[in-house]
Amino acid sequence: MTIIVTGGAGFIGSNFVYLELEEHSDDRIICLDNLTYAGNLSTLKKAMEYPNFRFVKADISDREAVEKLFEEEHPDIVVNFAAESHVDRSIEDPGIFLQTNIIGTQVLMDACRKYGIKRYHQVSTDEVYGDLPLDRPDLFFTEETPIHTSSPYSSSKAGADLLVLAYHRTYGLPVTVTRCSNNYGPYHFPEKLIPLMISRALADEPLPVYGKGENVRDWLYVKDHCKAIDLVMRGGRVGEVYNIGGHNEKSNLEVVKTILKELGKSEDLITFVTDRPGHDMRYAIDPTKIHNELGWLPETKFEDGIKQTIRWYLDNKEWWEEIISGEYRNYFDKMYKEKGRA
Ligand code: NAD
Ligand code: TYD
Repeated sequence: MTIIVTGGAGFIGSNFVYLELEEHSDDRIICLDNLTYAGNLSTLKKAMEYPNFRFVKADISDREAVEKLFEEEHPDIVVNFAAESHVDRSIEDPGIFLQTNIIGTQVLMDACRKYGIKRYHQVSTDEVYGDLPLDRPDLFFTEETPIHTSSPYSSSKAGADLLVLAYHRTYGLPVTVTRCSNNYGPYHFPEKLIPLMISRALADEPLPVYGKGENVRDWLYVKDHCKAIDLVMRGGRVGEVYNIGGHNEKSNLEVVKTILKELGKSEDLITFVTDRPGHDMRYAIDPTKIHNELGWLPETKFEDGIKQTIRWYLDNKEWWEEIISGEYRNYFDKMYKEKGRA
């Protein structure tokens, strides 16, 4: 099969590219990515060595470029990871989130309709469900939880999800959607909580924790997410949504303290800063559906995954040091100084 992986130069997309190359050597993997600040070609260096891998630099919302690729490759499956993915950036500048996350999804699906496809898979997020209260640990997101978004990011992802399901109902496009909780692991861009805290702790710089650090996220090791997507895109029921995640809930403060402990650094580095506007309190996934239908369960416990992740950041300093020394430094200074941070 020929599989187009959009956003394959980003965090989860690149981990997915490697999973496919390692576990499905008969398939041809095409990465379509326009290399925004979050996309990094060095991440795909090892993938370039595989004869069944191709990288194409293009924007998913560029209809001409997308159609040209479909004409050349006639993909069987398209799995769409490409997105603007950072909540804080969406608060600063929502426009590009609507363009990439919604219009880009439309353009990809139009090409799928025009050229024919076995499966279009949309990689979505649990953030489309909004948040859960801290004092109701019995509540979890199921696939029936109403869409109720908080940020421009999650709203753009929800808009795309609705469009994907509408393309199935209206045009019969064979789609699936997965909604996953927060990921962590190798190649995570150092603007997100876990890699940001690892890189700053290593440099003995203050660790900016929003509000009181009480917000809870349901952390999933990235490889577990990729395995779940692989199962759903190949064997999930068409037209269905599957939640992915699984009972690894931690408060931000717990996560930051774990990182500091692993690195042997002082908790004095923790700096409480102005909270994120509209900050979601708690995310927690009920993965019963994907478990019952496809046998998926998370394999990596947070306690092990966080150690592996820290090890990876220690072993791959050149990857993230290059990122934080460039344009990203300007972003960090602007975002965190504006809000009285760092
Ligand atoms: P990321 O920001 O690390 O990577 C996004 C990739 O998409 C980059 O390589 C970027 O260059 C590419 N891209 C952006 N705009 C593009 C465009 N217009 N055309 C082509 N390529 C474009 O994101 P991520 O964390 O790997 O997230 C991947 C997907 O998974 C996203 O759809 C996100 O909503 C979803 N998701 C992420 C998480 C998480 O914890 N990171 C959790 C659940 C779902
Ligand atoms: P993030 O990694 O941005 O993912 P998301 O907002 O999609 O869940 O943030 C994870 C949590 O960490 C979230 O509650 C916000 C918090 N956070 C901080 O406290 N400080 C930071 O500098 C960042 C980036 C996030």
